[in-house]
Parts: sequence; C-alpha cells; structure tokens
Amino acid sequence: MRLEKYLVECGVASRRKIKKAILEGRVTLNGNVEYNDGTEVEWGIDSITFDGIIPKRKELKYYILYKVAGYITAMSDEHRKTVVELLPSYVDRSSVFPVGRLDKDTEGLLLFTSDGNLSYTMSHPDKEMEKTYYVELAREISSDNILALESGVILDTGYAALPGKVEYISPKSINLTITEGKYHQVKKMLKAVQNRVTYLKRIQFGNLTLGDMQPGEIREILREDIQI
Ligand code: URA
Repeated sequence: MRLEKYLVECGVASRRKIKKAILEGRVTLNGNVEYNDGTEVEWGIDSITFDGIIPKRKELKYYILYKVAGYITAMSDEHRKTVVELLPSYVDRSSVFPVGRLDKDTEGLLLFTSDGNLSYTMSHPDKEMEKTYYVELAREISSDNILALESGVILDTGYAALPGKVEYISPKSINLTITEGKYHQVKKMLKAVQNRVTYLKRIQFGNLTLGDMQPGEIREILREDIQI
C-alpha cells in the first residue's frame, strides 16, 4: 500500500498533514528519509518512522447503534443533535463514522466503523446490500400497492426504484427490503403508491440485525460478524 495510506491507517495525523510531513522529511522508510507519499510499503515488512516514532496500526472498530429519532446522521452540526452524541465515551469518536445514513426521524440499525474500505464496499451500489425497514403507514396498503413496490416504483424525482421485497404485517405496517439507499428512499417509495410513512425503523443491514437491542444501545461487533 502507499506510504501515505499506511500512515493514515496508523492514525498519526490527517491525510493532508501526513503528505506535508513526508515532504518535510519527517518520515523514514527502512532507515532513510522518504519523500514520496506514493512509495509502496507493506505491513510487517517495512520499518517506518514518523517524527522519529514507529507508529502502530490502529485497530479497526465496528459498532452497531440502535439509533433513536431526533438525531441527524452527521459527524457534526452547528444546531442539530448528531448520532455522534449517541456514542458512549469509550468509543473513539475521532476515528469512527456511520456507514450510510438514516433520516433524523428514522430509528434503528446504524453501523459505525473506522474501516474506510468496509464502509466503501458496503455503501457501493454495485454491492446491492439488503436493508430491511419496518414501516408504519398513514393509510392501509393494498395488494396492488405491494405488487407495485415489488415491481419497482417511480420516485417523485423520476428515478425508477429497483424492486423491493414486501413482508405484509398488518393493513398499516410492512417490512420493506431494498438494496438501494437514495435520499428518503423508503418514504418516496411509499409516496409513489399514494401512502405516507408515519414511522420508520431499519431492522436489518446486510446480515446485521437489531436482534434484542434496545433503543439507544450500542454493541461492539467484530469484522468477522459482517458478511460482505
Ligand atoms: N429511507 C428513508 O426514507 N429514510 C431513511 O432514513 C432510510 C431509508
């Protein structure tokens, strides 16, 4: 991997500061000052120092948060409460970030990690990661509506949503599984069948589920727990 990426993964500084430090001659590779941030290096083989210190690879972390309503999915915001405020103090807030996004009024499963590669892969549209939402509705859902959602509805943006999977629960509640993550996707899909979401909770993301977690709870999981 590139020297710059190696140092990012060690968490010694931001990418920008690392690039600058390399140019300033503050990084050595196998005993010699290395000025090229793109030089290929390998974990466990190359010996690297940053300001005279051998940095260690930061342990990658994975957490499932049961998000509650009222928090926006962002790392910071001037006025609104963010999901970061739901993280307990033992979580290193400077290294983890949410994978994907839930609306302010949406509850449920939000994955946090410091693993940029995993986040990229899980969020990539080609991966078609399944996300299941428990949806409560303002009006009763008809079998025609279910058929439409399972065939693929046109959103108000003109975008043709991929077919979803519907599990009927009651006249005004369903579980909806989708593989996309467009802005307000579930709300817009239900709007396309002349309905309105009154409550939304993500209960599944890929193979991860909320299980017996309680609102606001956070659980650390392992990389091996996540199938992609
Ligand atoms: N779809 C929505 O409309 N909102 C969410 O928060 C997630 C999916």
